[in-house]
Amino acid sequence: MKGIILAGGLGSRLMPLTKITNKHLLPVYDEPMIYYPIRTLVEAGITEILIVTGGNSAGDFLRLLGNGKKFGIKGLNYAYQEGEGGIAEALGLAQHFADNQKVIVMLGDNIIQGSIKKAVEDFDKQPKGSKIFLKEVPDPHRFGVPIIDGNRITAIEEKPKKPKSNYAVIGIYMYDAQVFEMIKSLKPSDRGELEITDVNNIYIKNNIMTYEIIDGWWTDAGTFDSLFKAACLVESKKKKSM
Ligand code: G1P
Repeated sequence: MKGIILAGGLGSRLMPLTKITNKHLLPVYDEPMIYYPIRTLVEAGITEILIVTGGNSAGDFLRLLGNGKKFGIKGLNYAYQEGEGGIAEALGLAQHFADNQKVIVMLGDNIIQGSIKKAVEDFDKQPKGSKIFLKEVPDPHRFGVPIIDGNRITAIEEKPKKPKSNYAVIGIYMYDAQVFEMIKSLKPSDRGELEITDVNNIYIKNNIMTYEIIDGWWTDAGTFDSLFKAACLVESKKKKSM
């Protein structure tokens, strides 16, 4: 399975911190944000990773990460997203890299406490489709929110005013190679972007989506509050393991 980290966007919710640099290069406690998703994928056994960046300071990713030697991988690949076409458009740029294999996609501002190794191994064995992760949160309206019926997700609503569950769909997604054809069929949402939630809803409609509730804490880091929270969570995890 190949790994893709999406690290583009203008980071407008973090202005002026993102006026001259990319959100994913900002510090989360003692390391740049992008280090955390790379480590999560490497720990899960992923050895080939593509970073899709965009917006400001794209060249700084190369200066910071080089070929990924520090993370114990053979090499890092890079792609550049022009404009603000959304998460699904950024993923579409990875088709050539994926080369008909399954992919695990991680949003560059998502940070988790634990490991996803077991889920990655399970998805490797899943004949087709997709697998996503959920986490119970106090503020589901900020995220993609699943509608759950028994042990099935029947739909995902993107940032609903009245969430139909207390779960967020976190920014780690596993897909088979069909995903790239699905992306080509998408229409831009009201905010003018190709939405990852629309991709997930196609998998749900086709009845080939599985999910897991993720263990340990999860946070995004794309707002002032969540960036601060991420730093505090990471600090306490690192100090505990010292
Ligand atoms: C994106 C997705 C959303 C998901 C979230 C996780 O939102 O659209 O479904 O729950 O990432 O971090 P964004 O942070 O881009 O607004």
